[in-house]
Amino acid sequence: MFKGRHLLTLLDYSPEEIRKLLDLAHQVKREKRERIFPERMKNMNIVLLFEKTSTRTRCAFEVAANDEGAKVTFLSNSQMGKKESLEDTAKVLGRFYDGIEFRGFEQKTVELLAKYAQVPVWNGLTDLYHPTQVLADWMTIEEHVKKPLSEVKFCYVGDARNNMGNSLMIGCAKMGMDFVGIAPKSLFPDEKLVERMRELGRETGASITLSDDIAAVEGADVIYTDVWVSMGEEAQFAERIEALSPYRVTMDMLRRANNPDVIFLHCLPSFHDLETSVGRDIYEKFGLTEMEVTDEVFRSRHSVVFDEAENRMHTIKAVMLATTTDILDR
Ligand code: CP
Ligand code: NVA
Repeated sequence: MFKGRHLLTLLDYSPEEIRKLLDLAHQVKREKRERIFPERMKNMNIVLLFEKTSTRTRCAFEVAANDEGAKVTFLSNSQMGKKESLEDTAKVLGRFYDGIEFRGFEQKTVELLAKYAQVPVWNGLTDLYHPTQVLADWMTIEEHVKKPLSEVKFCYVGDARNNMGNSLMIGCAKMGMDFVGIAPKSLFPDEKLVERMRELGRETGASITLSDDIAAVEGADVIYTDVWVSMGEEAQFAERIEALSPYRVTMDMLRRANNPDVIFLHCLPSFHDLETSVGRDIYEKFGLTEMEVTDEVFRSRHSVVFDEAENRMHTIKAVMLATTTDILDR
C-alpha cells in the first residue's frame, strides 16, 4: 500500500516499493514528454514548508503538482515552532491539505509532522536525509548507465556523513548496489547506520565500503559529490576545505575510475566556478576557484547533472501520486 504513506527516509521503503516508484517516475516522464497531463491530483491542495532555501525541490513539487492538477501553497514564514507547536501546526495543515512537504533542519520535525498531520508528509531534505533526491539520482543512473542498478558501482566522494552521504548509502543498500564512500575518516558516516546498511546489503546483494583513498574510484560507474558545507554548517568552511580539498572531483579522478563511460552526478547547487556570491567569498578568503568539483568535470561529457535535476520533478511527481492516489495500489 502506498496511498496515505509518508516519505521521511528511504529506510521505510522496501526495494520492491522503490522499484515501483522509479517505474512510475519513468512513466510520468514519458507522459510529460508526450504532453499528456492526466491531472490525477485534481482538486487536491499541497503545502510546501521551507525552513531552508531551495531551487530544485520547491520548483519540482510546484511543477509536478501543477501538472497533476493540484494547487500549491508555499509557506516559509509560518507560526510553526515559534508561536504554535509542531503538533498543533501539523493538525491544522492536515485539515487543509492533502499532502505536506517539509524542508528544514531536524529530522524530528518531519517525523512529528507525519505523526500528527494525518495526511502524507514528504521529506524535502533535513540535516539527516534527502530521500527524494536519491530517487532522482537512481532514475538518472537508469537512463545513463547500461546495466541494472544492482550491478552498479557507485562512488560518493566528499562529506560522507551529510544528508546526501547517508541517503545515497541507504539507497545503494536497498537496491543491491556497490556503495563506496570516499572521504577523510573524520567525515565517515555514523557507524551504526553503516552497520545497519551492511546487514541490509547481505539481503539485497549490496556492498558498503568506506575508504579515505581516492584510488577506491577504480571501476566506478558513477562518481557523485555534494557541497563540502551543507546548509546550516556555514561556520565550518575552513575546516572542511582543509579536510576535503584532496577529494575534489577532477578529470584525473574520473580517469582513475578506468571506465570511459563513468558518469558524474551532483545533487546541486554546486560550487564549480566563481559565478556565485558564496563562491566568490570563499575565493577571497581561501583562494579556491572551485570547490567539490572542477568546472571541467562539471561541463564534461561525463556530467549528467541537469538530467538529474530534471528528474527531481518526475520522481517527486511519482512520490506524490503514489501517496495521495491509488495509482500504485490498484
Ligand atoms: N538538490 C536540491 O535539493 O536542490 P535545492 O536545494 O535547490 O532544492
Ligand atoms: N548537503 C546539501 C544538499 C543540498 C541539496 C545541503 O544540505 O546543503
